[in-house]
Amino acid sequence: MTDHARQPKLAADPATPLAGAEIVVAVGGGIAAYKACELVRLLTKAGAQVTVVMTRRAQKFVGALTFQALSGRAVMTELIDPGQEHDIGHIRVADRADLMIVAPATANLIARLAAGMADDAVTAVALATRAPLLIAPSMNVNMWANPLTAANVRRLIDVAGAHVVGPGDGFLACRWTGPGRLAEPADIVAAAARLRTAPDLAGRRIVITAGPTHEPIDPVRYLGNRSSGKMGYALAAAAMQRGAAVTLIAGPTALPDPVGVDVVHVEDARAMERALADHAWGGDAVIMAAAIADFRPLAAADKKLKRTEIGLAPTIALDANPDLLAGLGAERARRGGGPLLVGFAAETHDVVNYARAKLAAKGCDLVIANDVSAPDAGFAVDTNRVIAVDAGGAVELPFGSKAAVAHRILDVVAPRLR
Ligand code: PMT
Repeated sequence: MTDHARQPKLAADPATPLAGAEIVVAVGGGIAAYKACELVRLLTKAGAQVTVVMTRRAQKFVGALTFQALSGRAVMTELIDPGQEHDIGHIRVADRADLMIVAPATANLIARLAAGMADDAVTAVALATRAPLLIAPSMNVNMWANPLTAANVRRLIDVAGAHVVGPGDGFLACRWTGPGRLAEPADIVAAAARLRTAPDLAGRRIVITAGPTHEPIDPVRYLGNRSSGKMGYALAAAAMQRGAAVTLIAGPTALPDPVGVDVVHVEDARAMERALADHAWGGDAVIMAAAIADFRPLAAADKKLKRTEIGLAPTIALDANPDLLAGLGAERARRGGGPLLVGFAAETHDVVNYARAKLAAKGCDLVIANDVSAPDAGFAVDTNRVIAVDAGGAVELPFGSKAAVAHRILDVVAPRLR
């Protein structure tokens, strides 16, 4: 690229890549403009400072006042604003931006951006800024399929270094079904976070397990545990942000699938074992954050057990589940190579010693030990405190949100990848 090269500024802490970032949200004139409200809300919640710039048509769909309230800042609606021009408003906004998001990017707005026009506030800021440009297209399916739009998008990517998120596929406001929906605001935020995170796991393939397993007793009852999946899901999102191709093998949780991650949903330990057999080999690392049940009912009933049939003091005969991590460790030794194996250890006392024992017993390279008896760590809470244990010693990682702890764990994992 020329010396107009866009300058990605990476976040100081990849756990909070949008905190403190100056983000311009440029709203185009399409029905999806209302979704830009949620986008601004999510960006602000993630700690970004948001300046909204609107086209004239966008203001017909959503009032500037709404964005002003959501962003806590004045909204730029005109290229020339007599009250703002002492320091050339659009250049000030363009210069301080770390990232510019265009959402919704209509076919017309994409064409004007690709032509390098600067005839309104949005196009002028886009042309003047050296910050990365993230375009979220939204339009009628046939407009999106039109080769002219495709050429304009390609030009924005090739000439302006723009990044594109979406469009999604589905039922559109114009009553057509197909690609053209604005990407979900959470997906746009994830794409923005990714642009601000150093891609130190690019080219890596990482498999992560998360959540509990449910071992069926009958069609309505199961044996389970208190894992919410939050730790494993945070690891998956963090690895994806750092550029890895991530497969998340998830037991039953209430969490939405992380954006940009392949998710394989399973119910019980044996299904998780099959999913691992399908995905673990050929990758760079397997991180086992799932709380896999050690036992399952010996035989699951295929009809709901009735109180009257099982009596008032029933016993459930149990069988041992396979130890999946130990199985991977043994198989890797048999094959003479394979992915880096990272286990977790959920302990209530003598944490490091038990973690060391698991490291040896399961044949893995690293164990992340958490004291699950602490009120702010382990099962179901939003924070964790962990110690990374390997053959050489133990290192306590900083306490924080599971998102932050996930990044600290990946800081330990990344340099070990072969
Ligand atoms: O999901 P959250 O609510 O966010 O909670 C996070 C967590 C507490 C579940 C997570 O941080 C954690 O500690 N996960 C591992 C829980 C566990 O099962 O620990 P364990 O010490 O029993 O097992 C040791 C390792 O062997 C784990 O990597 C586990 O995935 C694996 N294992 C266990 C049993 C089994 N049959 N097969 C296994 O592979």
